[in-house]
Amino acid sequence: MCGIIGFSGAGNAGSKQGNCESSVDIVLNGLKSLEYRGYDSSGVAYYDETDNKIKSIKKSGKLVNLSAELSCIKPVESNTAIGHIRWATHGRPTDDNAHPHLDCSGNIAIVHNGIIENYAVLKNKLIGKGHKFITPTDSEVIAHLIEDYMKDGAKTFYEAVRLASLDLLGAFAFLAMNADEKSICAVKYGPPLVMVNKDKEIYFASDVSPLIQYSDEVIYLKNSEIAYFKDGLLKLTDFKGKPLNKTVTKIDWDASRAVKTGFSHFMQKEIFEQPSCLLDAFSSRIISVKNDGSAADSNKSDSIFSGFKIMLEDVRLTKKDIDKAGRIIITACGSSYYAGLVIKYITETICGIPVIVEYGSEFRYENFPVSKNDIFIGISQSGETADTNSALEIAKEKKAGILSITNVPGSQITTMSDKGVIYTHAGPEIGVASTKAFTTQIMCGLLLALRIKEIKDTASDAGKNLSGVNFFDEIVNLPKKAEQILFLNDSIKEIAKKYYKNTNFLYLGRGILYPIALEGALKLKEISYIHAEGYPAGEMKHGPIALVDENMPVLFLLSNNMLAPKTISNIEEIKARGGKVIAVADYEPDIDGISDIIKIPASAEVLSPILYTIPLQILAYHIAALKGTDIDQPRNLAKSVTVE
Ligand code: AGP
Repeated sequence: MCGIIGFSGAGNAGSKQGNCESSVDIVLNGLKSLEYRGYDSSGVAYYDETDNKIKSIKKSGKLVNLSAELSCIKPVESNTAIGHIRWATHGRPTDDNAHPHLDCSGNIAIVHNGIIENYAVLKNKLIGKGHKFITPTDSEVIAHLIEDYMKDGAKTFYEAVRLASLDLLGAFAFLAMNADEKSICAVKYGPPLVMVNKDKEIYFASDVSPLIQYSDEVIYLKNSEIAYFKDGLLKLTDFKGKPLNKTVTKIDWDASRAVKTGFSHFMQKEIFEQPSCLLDAFSSRIISVKNDGSAADSNKSDSIFSGFKIMLEDVRLTKKDIDKAGRIIITACGSSYYAGLVIKYITETICGIPVIVEYGSEFRYENFPVSKNDIFIGISQSGETADTNSALEIAKEKKAGILSITNVPGSQITTMSDKGVIYTHAGPEIGVASTKAFTTQIMCGLLLALRIKEIKDTASDAGKNLSGVNFFDEIVNLPKKAEQILFLNDSIKEIAKKYYKNTNFLYLGRGILYPIALEGALKLKEISYIHAEGYPAGEMKHGPIALVDENMPVLFLLSNNMLAPKTISNIEEIKARGGKVIAVADYEPDIDGISDIIKIPASAEVLSPILYTIPLQILAYHIAALKGTDIDQPRNLAKSVTVE
């Protein structure tokens, strides 16, 4: 996840408050608002009026390092600047690897958010034409590709940018500025890009937060659109060059804190926020010992993992606690309960500790034998769910240790958590249906399982149960994979159009994906009011398959693992009875007769529930939208069930 920002104007820009800012000030202030998107390196490029050249300043580390560097240069006369803030997932966060990236001539600078999937092919071709690259990043290709089209005779900078955009594969939102023309282009295909155009000025940003101070009327660029700003005039076209009308969205100043940012519903926004929320859930909690490089890091010694360490300061579990407990009990409700089922699987796989998951509403009235040695984990987005909190009260009365995973600081559940709280850092979740809270709960559960293993095991046990997974890379790369799934939105919407009139659905999964079948069914139920059931795929033949006929769509969660052949057999059983099969898969399954398949990126098994959840959220959302239900506030539901 990265943040990009840009400005170009007739002269010193006036903010809403009337104070004058230079283009570099505007960009730097904008980066501060985008810092949540990543903060291990940043940079600014600006057009220097004194010598008509582009100057670029880039710094690894926090944004404060860039600010310090900029404060050392004399105030610049500049009316065009772009900036970038980065969370490095490949390669070290060095000054060179930070954006902006320049072309060979130094006349073009770009900042980019996304993934250029065909960058290696393009880079080799450009090197063959004499281009000199400075970094291993995919983004630098964009600057040289534009330069190449300029050399090949593109009449304008806009035309060179447009032709370059047509060559790119993957996901890209980028800004490109040009010294010769003193112009700036914005290109969007995938990640968000929004702009404000007023008084012969243009502002670009990855989201509305840096722009709201300049205007409450914004323009959201759509996929395959290019904005071109030169001499105070803005042109908007598609990638074919066809002129487009600008659609202005008025941001409700008061609600800007909740900030739907151009989405139709809060739930939709919160689905699309998940890459950055996942980043927030793990950043600063998984520390790369290699990248850290700090030889003096005294904590290094107690990390049993090679290459990384888990930092969950507020988790106050000791080895003695864990050894004495011998088991962990998770209690939660609704989606949080399903997150608990996933965390059970993760914890048993990584730590080898038995985990029991109980509905809060059931636990309270069972004769569950609670021991003072037990470790309880309460999972709750709101931290105010009566059934969950009451169950924890029982555990507390019996002197068990209590941890919680929650999204709301200071909520009721935190007051009971004597062994610590892990915040999901998902930000306010306004939609009643849980989306970003659910996926970040699973992320936090994974971090907790890794931390428990660090506490419990010695270095000699390190490899046990970890099945050779490179957790650091898998976790750090997850937001980008989640972002790639969001680009499937339009194709999933087409699938929703085929099924939104159905009155029943089955969701089937095995192993760690069984809880995701439950969660997918719940999403559909609660926002579209269609009856849906989640089941272990292997359970169908023990009765529920009687429900299956041509009116019963059955959605399978299919992963390329040892359970795949079993699930394929279950699909055949459904097909044999006329059921329509939809599949979400991280590979190309060798079976025909699947009506619709949603292909997602593969990941380590313990992270796959997060990725499999996102298409189910999107499917439920579009089915509900087609049915016209109140998606953010579905009938009969409340965001936080504070009563029994
Ligand atoms: C999930 O989409 C529902 N809104 C509901 O099941 C919710 O997960 C449940 O009420 C628990 O809420 P909590 O996470 O705030 O405790």
